[in-house]
Amino acid sequence: MKKWFAVIGDPVAQSMSPGMHDYWFKENKIDAAYLPVHAKSEKLQSVISSLRLLGCSGWNVTVPHKSDILPFLGSVDEAAAHMGAVNTVVIEGEGTLVGYNTDGIGFVHALEEKYGNDRKAEEILIIGAGGAAKGIAFALRSAGYGSITFTNRTMTNAYELSKRLSDSTCLPIAEAELQLARFGIIIQTTSVGMAFSTEGMPLDPSNAAPGTAAVDIIYNPLETDFLAAARHSGAATANGIGMFVHQGALAFEKWTGIHPDTAGMMEQLTQQLE
Ligand code: ATR
Repeated sequence: MKKWFAVIGDPVAQSMSPGMHDYWFKENKIDAAYLPVHAKSEKLQSVISSLRLLGCSGWNVTVPHKSDILPFLGSVDEAAAHMGAVNTVVIEGEGTLVGYNTDGIGFVHALEEKYGNDRKAEEILIIGAGGAAKGIAFALRSAGYGSITFTNRTMTNAYELSKRLSDSTCLPIAEAELQLARFGIIIQTTSVGMAFSTEGMPLDPSNAAPGTAAVDIIYNPLETDFLAAARHSGAATANGIGMFVHQGALAFEKWTGIHPDTAGMMEQLTQQLE
């Protein structure tokens, strides 16, 4: 019987996950479909019951349900428990709903695909202190990366996050801008620069040292003001397409046991967004 998978979110129509997973199903000759499911917060429990009733084999979870879904799951893996957020649900054993989080590790895979894995001793600056910053920071730490500094518009949020991650520190944005040259990896995780936002940059990367890895996790648009300015300073830049594709590939692997082609997908999505 044909299997089906889904992404649940609000909004969800803009999600590029259905196209990506449908392509991978076809490429790997798997008879399955992947649908966007619009789920309002107050209907989350009913939507989950409906997915199960209708035989959905697994689903992704996007904004704003990544944390709210936890009470409805049978168990969660270590990364998801640590972060208090789930982006992938797998139905295991006799029908237990198991939650995973592939966002942070997806980021690390994308980082290493682009820059290799010899930057582990570099100092890392993370701009932002929300869910995305948290997932990325914990995944970097698990993967053996070194010192992490958070900078954020609201410093109390950066302090809170830093308290939960050993060997991490915080700097106000102006101070981080002055000290930028010491960071070998700079990661922009805020929503500033997304298609709907008119604001410019959360931090001016003009003082980045040449060759610094500067990553913006935004992929729509492909080029943000932050990335353009970082490139101008001589940094080696990457947008968020890599993280998006790798988090999806890790979810696909959990559902099917197959790790799909990521390089081809990154090219395809880039063309689509250009
Ligand atoms: P996500 O899960 O995508 O990380 P989030 O948890 O809402 O989303 O976190 C959003 C991040 O973007 C925060 O670091 C937020 O800064 P504050 O802690 O000061 O709110 C940052 N952010 C959002 N809008 C911003 C803006 N206009 N300027 C600077 N930072 C902004």
